[in-house]
Amino acid sequence: MEGEGECSDNPFTSVMTLTKMRVPHVPQRYVLPPSQRPTLTLDLTANLPIVDLSTLHHASQRSLTLDTIQGACKELGFFQVVNHGIPLPVIHDALAAAIEFFNLSLEEKMTLLSDNVHNPVRYGTSLNHASDKVHYWRDFIKHYSHPISDWIHLWPSNPPSYKDKMGNYAKAVQVLHKQLMEAILETLGLNFGNLQKEIEEGNQLMAINCYPACPEPDLTLGMPPHSDYGTLTVLLQSGPGLQLQDNKKKWLSVPFVEGALLVQLGDQIEVMSNGQYKSVVHQVTLSAENKRLSIASLHSLPINKKIGPAPELVDEQHPVSYNEFSFRDFLDYISSNDIADKRFIDSIKKSV
Ligand code: OGA
Ligand code: NI
Repeated sequence: MEGEGECSDNPFTSVMTLTKMRVPHVPQRYVLPPSQRPTLTLDLTANLPIVDLSTLHHASQRSLTLDTIQGACKELGFFQVVNHGIPLPVIHDALAAAIEFFNLSLEEKMTLLSDNVHNPVRYGTSLNHASDKVHYWRDFIKHYSHPISDWIHLWPSNPPSYKDKMGNYAKAVQVLHKQLMEAILETLGLNFGNLQKEIEEGNQLMAINCYPACPEPDLTLGMPPHSDYGTLTVLLQSGPGLQLQDNKKKWLSVPFVEGALLVQLGDQIEVMSNGQYKSVVHQVTLSAENKRLSIASLHSLPINKKIGPAPELVDEQHPVSYNEFSFRDFLDYISSNDIADKRFIDSIKKSV
């Protein structure tokens, strides 16, 4: 489909464009080496916990629910939540706004195109179209979202309802993140009050991802294996496709539960917990039939805040296992490193 020369300067082509062209094969730059190709028919995650968050408000049920959360954090770094307090219409509106955005003309979306990971709002494709050696079958728009009044004027002004619909969802997820952090810190025996202000003033980056149907889903991925950098990611998905690695490095497919939200532990929690909890490695697979949308809300402490292991979790048996890092350090890292090659968290682990 294209000569090698065209790959090296990476002209911008969205996967929505390729889909509209009805390409019968994925272009060569999307083809992964055989060892990195996905298995599309994996076991479903057998013991994937679904946590009913309403039980956290009932004194008699709270400790049982915290036990479930603790088990999920130790085994998988991942769980799903229901009764999370975000109304279904807010969820559906956010997904509808995302669909409308990606259906806009390329010209319109290109006004937000950027390969600079420090930009607070940017449209793009793959991980970073300007530097990726292998491309991934994903288009995205990412924007900072908290506090919303600082950023919303930079968000897409088309479709006209985007700011309202995505804004309602963003605000609701920010509240949910705080509630989840309170529970997770409690399971680690850490004092939420000490971190409350930084959690409230933290960064929220929403990654709105579009994975169109792919003619050869066995050759490529929507996103390569990675973990998220922050405290937690709350993920909303329109259909199945996410796979994660358990603590034995076995890949599992995440079952799709309508209305549920997925909670993924990020690198900041791994570091804070001094390795008691691990950030979850996940990847996105594609479908030959269906387009998939996802809205990942990536939360982290304030951009310049250095996070190290909590002193309460360090002793002679558990020496400090990670160097400190901030969200900004992570952004600097991905500006010059390919996270498909090497995980960020491995760069801050202390050698034993
Ligand atoms: C991400 C991510 C998963 C998905 O944006 O970091 O992992 O299902 N997304 O889109
Ligand atoms: Ni992710």
